[in-house]
Amino acid sequence: MLEYDIVIVGGGGAGLYAALWAAENTILKVAVMTKVYPTRSHTGAAEGGINAVLTHSVGDSPEAHAYDTVKGSDFLADQDAVDIMCKMGAAVIYDIAHRGVPFSRRPDGRIAQRPFGGASYPRTCYAADKTGFYILQTLYEQCLKNNVTFLNEWFLLSIIHNGERVEGLTAWDIRNGGVHLIKTKAVILATGGHGRVYWNRTSNALGNTGDGTAAALRAGLPLKDMEFIQFHPTGLAKTGILVTEGARGEGGFLRNKDGERFMKRYAPERMELAPRDIVSRAIQTEIDEGRGCGPNGDYVYLDLTHLGEEKINERLPQTREHAILYEGVDPVREPIPVAPTAHYSMGGIDTDKMGRTEIKGLYAAGECACISVHGANRLGGNSLLDILVFGRLTALEAVKYADDAPETNPSLAKQKDDEKRILELMENDGKESLADLRRELGNVMIKHFGVFREESSMRQGIEKLHEIRERAKHVKVHDTSKKFNTDLISVLEFLNLVDLSLPIAIAAIERKESRGAHARKDYPNRDDKNFLKHSIVRLKEDGDYELSWKPVTITKFPPEERKY
Ligand code: FUM
Repeated sequence: MLEYDIVIVGGGGAGLYAALWAAENTILKVAVMTKVYPTRSHTGAAEGGINAVLTHSVGDSPEAHAYDTVKGSDFLADQDAVDIMCKMGAAVIYDIAHRGVPFSRRPDGRIAQRPFGGASYPRTCYAADKTGFYILQTLYEQCLKNNVTFLNEWFLLSIIHNGERVEGLTAWDIRNGGVHLIKTKAVILATGGHGRVYWNRTSNALGNTGDGTAAALRAGLPLKDMEFIQFHPTGLAKTGILVTEGARGEGGFLRNKDGERFMKRYAPERMELAPRDIVSRAIQTEIDEGRGCGPNGDYVYLDLTHLGEEKINERLPQTREHAILYEGVDPVREPIPVAPTAHYSMGGIDTDKMGRTEIKGLYAAGECACISVHGANRLGGNSLLDILVFGRLTALEAVKYADDAPETNPSLAKQKDDEKRILELMENDGKESLADLRRELGNVMIKHFGVFREESSMRQGIEKLHEIRERAKHVKVHDTSKKFNTDLISVLEFLNLVDLSLPIAIAAIERKESRGAHARKDYPNRDDKNFLKHSIVRLKEDGDYELSWKPVTITKFPPEERKY
């Protein structure tokens, strides 16, 4: 049995920043457990930037940032948490800049900021279009410098708690094989989102399978606002790979097959820089109404040709590289084919504004957590900010807790259960193919729980998800070896996605209104009277899901009509 005081699960931006702040503020034993090598975490795919009001952000204020965030969230964000995030923006930017993040600079040497969707000032700090990549590399170096212990290539299986306090975890050691029990006083889940539930149409890394969120659900914890999945407006048409909002921030246009800048009909003031939910719906509407481009009319064009080669190379080098590599078009000369792609999970593990869950010593931060600072729709650039602010705050909370917490005594039962579960996966009849079922899951989610939703289609979708859940019992792990058993990991990841698909679907069908990213054709308006509240889904002991609701925290900004 391994033993630590604090275990951080996940080696992306939230996990690494939490580890760094924990390591610098305690002599307790802290470890990061991550299923991929940390520098391969999905934070590395965050491109366009991180929002913060800096000392030289003329006219802007944390209050304006908070207002934009709440309005962007369609008033579902908890405003006390938003307030904390926006007030801490400058502190985290200067902290990571001093630790080595090479932010792009203005001619006067100050950190450059670009416009982003839904923001009333240019407040998105960036490092070309590889901001997350640089943040991730810098934080990893800093963790190594501070002697943080890493359990690289370990896969979370279960959370162990006694109904009151967390006691430990079980995990599979990918390199050597075997289920291990890890005793710890505190756990911070920082395992990222679950965008891969939309398997075929997502900007998410292969590993974004909601492992921590699914483990929390199975451990009896509530998930919040799972129906809200953000579709990024500009995924590459063929693959769904992200084309940064920074491309529109730098002046890119969206055009339909008639060459029209169609955003003028959907958001006449903000145009291409309206929030993502609005731009995604506009693109989807153009496609659905026959104004899409290409032989199948299933994408629109992102036109950067007027920006010029020098600016594209300086500000958007990765965008150019990806467009050439994956679409065969050079944005200096031709427009890029784009369509909405599942990008971000607004919902996740229900926490309070300090990342605390209902189990003492168990915290969540980053995309797996629903704190909730993004409500029904996240603004671009607020995700990197969220992971840093709340990674740091949960670390300090966990340190405070673990300092005084009693010794834990995790039972061996969970380890035995997990060993049995893995053996069963290797011995079942194997009637179903992982590849087929995973693709089917993605298709069901896209078709029935995509950019637009509607009762009868969602009902069909829920039936299909129940069938997939049953059929998933017949997916077999064919490789019975121990070392680097990627077959086993793929099946475990798929089962996590299956566990999370129904909470999305159940909350979506019961939210009979349109709000942020949840756009219902049968209920096109926001309904504050009945639905200004968070959805909560729990997994019951009999395997069924239970839905309830929880109030939203409103402090300064009363709900108003959302116009751009
Ligand atoms: O478009 C982007 O660069 C993505 C940023 C984000 O999701 O915050």
